[in-house]
Amino acid sequence: MIVESKGCEAIEIREIQDDDINDLFNWRNHPDVRKNFFNSDLISWDEHEKWFKAKIKDPYTSIYIACFGKDKVGSIRFEDKGDAVKVSVMLNPDFFGKGVGSSVIRLGTERFIKEKNPYKPIHAEIKRDNIASLKAFQKAGFEESHLIFVYKRVVNSQERRN
Ligand SMILES: CC(C)(COP(=O)(O)OP(=O)(O)OC[C@H]1O[C@@H](n2cnc3c(N)ncnc32)[C@H](O)[C@@H]1OP(=O)(O)O)[C@@H](O)C(=O)NCCC(=O)NCCS
Repeated sequence: MIVESKGCEAIEIREIQDDDINDLFNWRNHPDVRKNFFNSDLISWDEHEKWFKAKIKDPYTSIYIACFGKDKVGSIRFEDKGDAVKVSVMLNPDFFGKGVGSSVIRLGTERFIKEKNPYKPIHAEIKRDNIASLKAFQKAGFEESHLIFVYKRVVNSQERRN
């Protein structure tokens, strides 16, 4: 188990378990979390359950839970996307703004590298206005490498009907 000292307690990283399903559902649907994801839609329980059950046994996905004492403070997920591994982090909203994000990212990434030893780069895609995430990833050892431009397609009414 990877541990980071914070005062007299510590953040610990462990593998995700079946009974983490409710926490991930609640965190993912919290408005302050949702707004920062590229898909910011509310997720239904059925959709979440299907996603969770698939991801937990997917050999291309690793999800870890960060704990602080008895509390679950967040999760970090790594998904093999072919050319790169994509990382996504999500804190328990009760732990926002306490500076634990960078520890979760660093400890989670160290754990993932130790376990999977990936030869591919690890990418975090972050919205430009998500300053807390930009800073947390930088503090955890990630460096800005390139920008992604998305073509702003104008959909006309005819296309919308099809
Ligand atoms: C992103 C996330 C993990 C950040 O974790 P956090 O520990 O709550 O981050 P903090 O609020 O402590 O902010 C991190 C840093 O950014 C700074 N910061 C935050 N908002 C800021 C703003 N609007 N302007 C300037 N600095 C800001 C903080 O002061 C802090 O700086 P410090 O490390 O020097 O103290 C967490 O907010 C989260 O789970 N968000 C929802 C999901 C998400 O956005 N995931 C990332 C998508 S990959």
